[in-house]
Amino acid sequence: MNNILHIDSSVRFSENESLSHRSISKSLGQHFIQTWMKKNNSIKVVYRDLASNPPEYLSVDWLAAAFTEEVERSELQRSVLKQSDAYYEEVKQADLILITAPMHNYGMPAVLKAWFDQILRLNHTFTFDLKRGDFPIEPMLFRKVLVLLTSTGEFGFQAGGVREEMNHLGPHVKQLGRYLGAESFYEIGSEFQEFKDVRHQKSIAKAREQIESLVVDLLGK
Ligand SMILES: Cc1cc2nc3c(=O)[nH]c(=O)nc-3n(C[C@H](O)[C@H](O)[C@H](O)COP(=O)(O)O)c2cc1C
Repeated sequence: MNNILHIDSSVRFSENESLSHRSISKSLGQHFIQTWMKKNNSIKVVYRDLASNPPEYLSVDWLAAAFTEEVERSELQRSVLKQSDAYYEEVKQADLILITAPMHNYGMPAVLKAWFDQILRLNHTFTFDLKRGDFPIEPMLFRKVLVLLTSTGEFGFQAGGVREEMNHLGPHVKQLGRYLGAESFYEIGSEFQEFKDVRHQKSIAKAREQIESLVVDLLGK
């Protein structure tokens, strides 16, 4: 694995004088990259902070451009798809996609959803063919690894946890990841941020350890 695409989506900064305004998900992402670099520094990392540089929302012009054959697109339509093309190219080049995300209202932050909306495009990331019957959509990118690092205020969102049913973050990213070409998916999360107690500190420490083990596993593959 030589190319990592690192996507952050928290509005908070990873460095902040006030601990309570420091992004946990971003700091987990930094820990992943630093651990990886210590063991193998020959990788290329492309980084995007979606909160400080937000993707555009889809518009009617975007839809018209995306559903027009490439050779028939006007100059204006090409320019409308510029951001989508740039994001897509970064995904295409990546062997591993690292996404960090806070849970916002039980799902992903709006900027991350907007990023997915820009990338998941007909004849780019998926094909559509009614000859396939009730499942006409198939992905076009393959062999990538997707790692999701999350932070939540509450807890118990994992399989079998007390809030499993309320978790629309991990399952959604995993589902969409298939269209980024992810054939394997790993999720590590820190919980309890809103309780600000020892469970929170333990949860962060555990997430950091899990990240270190995951990096070792991935480098061994
Ligand atoms: C707008 C907003 C919505 C949130 N919604 C949830 C939620 O639905 N469930 C939850 O467990 N935590 C929720 N939280 C708490 C965050 O997930 C938590 O603070 C997390 O640490 C944020 O990640 P960050 O530190 O990387 O920004 C919310 C926080 C904000 C600001």
